[in-house]
Order: sequence, then C-alpha cells, then structure tokens
Amino acid sequence: MRVGLLTGGGDCPGLNAAIRAVVKHGEGRYGHSIIGFRNGWKGVVDGDVLPMGRQHIRNVLPVGGTLLGTARFHPKAEDGSLDAVMATLEAERIEALICIGGDGTLHAASKVAEAGVKIVAIPKTIDNDVAGTDLSIGFHTAVNIATEAIDRVHTTAESHNRVMVVEVMGRHAGWIAVNSGIAGGAELVLAPEEPFDIDQVVKFLKHRHRAHANFSIVVVAEGAEPREGGSMDYTTQVGKYGEIIAGAIGDRLAHEIEQRTGFDTRVTILGHVQRGGSPTPTDRILGSRFGVAAMDAISEGQSGVMTALRGERVELVPLAEVAGKVKHVPLDLLRVAQTLA
Ligand code: F6P
Repeated sequence: MRVGLLTGGGDCPGLNAAIRAVVKHGEGRYGHSIIGFRNGWKGVVDGDVLPMGRQHIRNVLPVGGTLLGTARFHPKAEDGSLDAVMATLEAERIEALICIGGDGTLHAASKVAEAGVKIVAIPKTIDNDVAGTDLSIGFHTAVNIATEAIDRVHTTAESHNRVMVVEVMGRHAGWIAVNSGIAGGAELVLAPEEPFDIDQVVKFLKHRHRAHANFSIVVVAEGAEPREGGSMDYTTQVGKYGEIIAGAIGDRLAHEIEQRTGFDTRVTILGHVQRGGSPTPTDRILGSRFGVAAMDAISEGQSGVMTALRGERVELVPLAEVAGKVKHVPLDLLRVAQTLA
C-alpha cells in the first residue's frame, strides 16, 4: 500500500519519533511504501513529496522539530485547495494518509476524510488541548522547559525582590501554565479557563509582600484574559490562523502590576523556546506508540479515526468527534495551582 504522511500546524518535540515509527513499522511489518509530504497540507496541495525510507529516520529520536517540515495551512473547498489535495493524492496513488497535527490540521483531516480519503490522525500540540486524548505529542517536553524556566526565574526574583511574570504558550487552554505553575511553585497561575480579575491579582500580591514575601512568580498562559468589565484594558492579538502573537498578555500584565503595586516587575516570555529542542523520553515514547497504532489502524482498513492516549492505553477515537473541539484544564487541577499559591 502507498501511505501518505504529513505533519501540520506548529511543530513540537516528539514529531520525529512518530514519523520514525510510521516508517519503520509501515515498511518492516507491512511492506508499505511511505510517501512523505513536505510542509503539511501545503505540500499535498503543491505535490511536494519525499518518498521515505530507513535512511531518513536514522538517529531522529532525540531531534526536535519535524524532518518533514510543517506549515500553518489548511486546504479549503472555497479556494480550490481541497481539489488540489485530491488531485495530488490521486497522482501519487496514495491509498491512505496519516496526518500528525493539532486542532487546525485535524479539522482539515476530517474534511478530507469526508471527501472519501482514508485518514488516520495523530494528535500533537504543546498546548495539549486536542479533545479525546489525555496527552498530545510535545506537551510533556514543553512543561519540562517551562518548569525549568520558572525554577531559574525564582532565584533571580528572590535576589532582586521582584515580581516576575512568566508567559507560557496556551492559546485556548492553560495546560502548560497550570502544570508548570504547580511544578515550579508559582504564586499565581492565570489560564484561559478562568478570566482573571486584575484587582484581585494586585490585592493578592500586595497582601503577600506585606505579610511575608519579598518576591512573587506569576505564570500566565498567552490566551488568559482579564474578566470582562474589569479594570484592565486588553485585547488579544490574533494571527491569520488564530495563533496568538506572543508577548501580548505577559507585557500588559507586568506593566499593570508594576503600576498598581509599585513593586519592581519583569516579564519573561518563553515563546517558541517551549517548542524547540530535544523531546523528553515521554514524548519520544508517546510519538512512537501513536505512530505504531496509526500504522496498524491504516493497515486494518480503519479511517476517520485519531490515535488517543486513554489512561494507560492507546485507543482510536472518531476524528469527527474530536476535531474542532478544545480540551480544557479541569477546574480541580486549576484549584490545585490556586490552593498552593
Ligand atoms: O502550537 C500551538 C501554539 O504553540 C500556540 O500556543 C501559539 O499561540 C502558537 O502555536 C504560535 O504559533 P506560531 O508558531 O505560528 O507563531
């Protein structure tokens, strides 16, 4: 069988482990030919192919990013790009497609599956907000990076008697903020799940510094927003594909805190540092498990499904049920972060 493979949307550590598993398992166990598409859906539209073999996947486990390249591009019926996808798949005699991606890529995958293409998807995003799976590839590494950053910021905050605002990624959900905030011992964690009240933030910091502390760490997800009608003036800056132009909320918050408390305040925006570098063993293992499961599913004739981690098991869930949905941080986890502040 000729199996197409692409990685779409923002990159993350662990993608190469999934690519490696698809190629190794597909060739070794099933004798399939794996045809990679460069730069996500854009490569399918352009017919930009990379026939993959063992030589491409040597020593890729510790390497971040994606060896296939990626792009924020989603084919649409309206502009003819969906037709171009179908034409390339036919020209390349692709019988089934494995798509590794986050919300946008999976949404596009479900549209292409509806058009009759056999598709199995693999969830990846450092934001961990894909519905239907406990974990997505990349999240574990991002939490590690953010936690290490918070640990480092801690010592300098304490030395200088400062408030440190650390902005982490998380457009629609605060998974990185909450997990790294708990692990790094942040005093405040602000996430998109609960709009925050800047007056309460200021009150809390003033009280803490008056009572016993000389420094504070505030972790804020890039998608966190002040409560409507509150006294902080702020509008989210969004890019072409709904991605947040990083830096917006962290800067604004730090400015507001310094103005209203008089405490020396600095901001650290982790940005794409969270998406780069070598994946943790957990992400390498997750990518490998998803890659093997996707290849098994394709070979058994499954379609329109996504690999998902459910507890200890990798299962398949219907793509149509999860595409376009956001998995939010449950309130009990958010409470842990707030309780330990
Ligand atoms: O991949 C998701 C994400 O990390 C978001 O948290 C962030 O808003 C976005 O990517 C940034 O995307 P880009 O790399 O296109 O700037």
